[in-house]
Amino acid sequence: CGIVGVVGSRNARDILMQGLEKLEYRGYDSAGIFVTNEAQAAHLVKSVGRIADLREKIGMEVTGTSGIGHTRWATHGKPSESNAHPHQSADEQFVLVHNGVIENYLEIKREYLADDHFTGETDTEIAVHLIAKLAKEKNLSTADAFKAALNIIEGSYAFALMNVLEPDVIYVAKNKSPLLIGLGDGYNMVCSDAMAMIRETSEFMEIHDKELVTLTKDGVLIQDAAGNKMSREPYTAELDISDIGKGTYPFYMLKEIDEQPAVMRKLSQLYTDDAGNVTVDHAIIDALGQADRIYIIAAGTSYNAGYASKYVLETLTEKPVELGIASEWGYNMPRLSEKPFFIFLSQSGETADSRQVLVKTNELGIPSLTVTNVPGSTLSREASFTMLLHAGPEIAVASTKAYTAQIAALSFLAKAVGQAIGNEAAAAFDIVHELSLVAQSIEATLSEKELIESKVAGLLSDTRNAFYIGRGQDYYVSMEASLKLKEISYIQCEGFAAGELKHGTIALIEEGTPVIALISNNPKVAAHTRGNVSEVVARGAHVITIVEQEAATTEDDIIINNVHPYLSSISMVIPTQLIAYYASLHRGLDVDKPRNLAKSVTVE
Ligand code: G6P
Repeated sequence: CGIVGVVGSRNARDILMQGLEKLEYRGYDSAGIFVTNEAQAAHLVKSVGRIADLREKIGMEVTGTSGIGHTRWATHGKPSESNAHPHQSADEQFVLVHNGVIENYLEIKREYLADDHFTGETDTEIAVHLIAKLAKEKNLSTADAFKAALNIIEGSYAFALMNVLEPDVIYVAKNKSPLLIGLGDGYNMVCSDAMAMIRETSEFMEIHDKELVTLTKDGVLIQDAAGNKMSREPYTAELDISDIGKGTYPFYMLKEIDEQPAVMRKLSQLYTDDAGNVTVDHAIIDALGQADRIYIIAAGTSYNAGYASKYVLETLTEKPVELGIASEWGYNMPRLSEKPFFIFLSQSGETADSRQVLVKTNELGIPSLTVTNVPGSTLSREASFTMLLHAGPEIAVASTKAYTAQIAALSFLAKAVGQAIGNEAAAAFDIVHELSLVAQSIEATLSEKELIESKVAGLLSDTRNAFYIGRGQDYYVSMEASLKLKEISYIQCEGFAAGELKHGTIALIEEGTPVIALISNNPKVAAHTRGNVSEVVARGAHVITIVEQEAATTEDDIIINNVHPYLSSISMVIPTQLIAYYASLHRGLDVDKPRNLAKSVTVE
């Protein structure tokens, strides 16, 4: 899941360990490092569990000037020490870390490595055995053996390879999985996420798919698949090291929840000019303006943010909006309209499921926009256009500020396109003013943390299941609210269209089942949702209501300041983020690093 590597630095061990710590947020279940020096005194240490467990295993003798490290999120083979990376060839000469999935690993094993003995069950081990075999049998240099192996390997990969006999070189290649070069003074690095190296450098260099990079302490040699030398300009990452600290917060998630009012204000600043006009790129407005349908492709929380933005987009752009689950559309693309426009929503900009759809739309010549929090990310580079979320690094696995930033950013897009086509509602929508009210509403909710905690602490500490219900926009928020609760509290929770509950799922309601009802100020549906609340109360449910002020009564539990209906999903989701946070906390779980989850899933 995460790769770090450094060549030429006196404290390679510390750089690798700090890098792995910075990658912890992405989720992993085991980790390891390989460190060596000019005298070829090599050390390989691996451990299941946290980076802290690995740290404990690493003795002071593990020192060196070069090395590679890895955090693993299991795909092939369970989390175990033997499956953890780095992996070695049988003669221990080659050492490899890998992200991604090698699709033809069983064929490789059958065809080339039938006599080899393997210590684990991973596709990566097969890759390093293959490299060793090619090097030995064909008497190839490391670079040539690596190249020959890459010609055989199919699938997605980011590789960092070392040969113990060449302790001052790291060989690097990628296909569809993210990997970057970091440039230092007298040392160079490789990492799957700039965050891992931001303490050491802010100068980075991109690698393209199928290139081979040879990294030494003073040089970076990039060659394309045909062996041609490529020149590449470095770029400076905009990450601020202070953004990636936790400050006084117990968990990143709480910090990120609290940052949301500031993110809303920042988006207003960055997407308008001094005269208050919306400043979305004209090329995006033109391309989208010509489309007859908008397709939003995303996964997880970003998918839910797509739904939450459908209403404002459809109303202001006058175009139908269709949502697609990225992992489904990769192979099951429905019949498209004549002039489609694709929006890829992704906090990380790296989700492999979304990328596979983008590869297809690019092949079809369909214009696309990536809306992401990470400039320079794969989805951003490969789409026709990019809009940034400007939410600052999101470290907690459970996404919060990226969700609300996505709705806000798409609202700016909707307003800009709507205005361009002469939509009256778009002209009348004072988005800067309305978002400032949203920021205030969020602040008001954040000042009620204790109340929210007290409402759910007992209720959600030991329940097995729970429900969120709502209609219209509130239903979409329910989807996200239930995902958040599932992710970090492990409570089985469903977000349900309130009216649909009685058509089957109400059978699950029993004495004390927690049901959280979302009721924003939409007179057409608020009364009906209240009707559904009565139905579950009659069957013993323990109901908590989250209600927008104008629709609220003194009986309601959590009351939210009114905001513009286009933006109500932003203010309504905030208490549900806090509910998930406190449920996780009261169940004694690691809020920021839920089991089995990864922050950015770069495998399909
Ligand atoms: C992972 C994360 C989710 C996230 C999803 C999409 O599964 O655990 O929290 O919503 O990926 O990520 P993206 O970066 O594309 O928004």
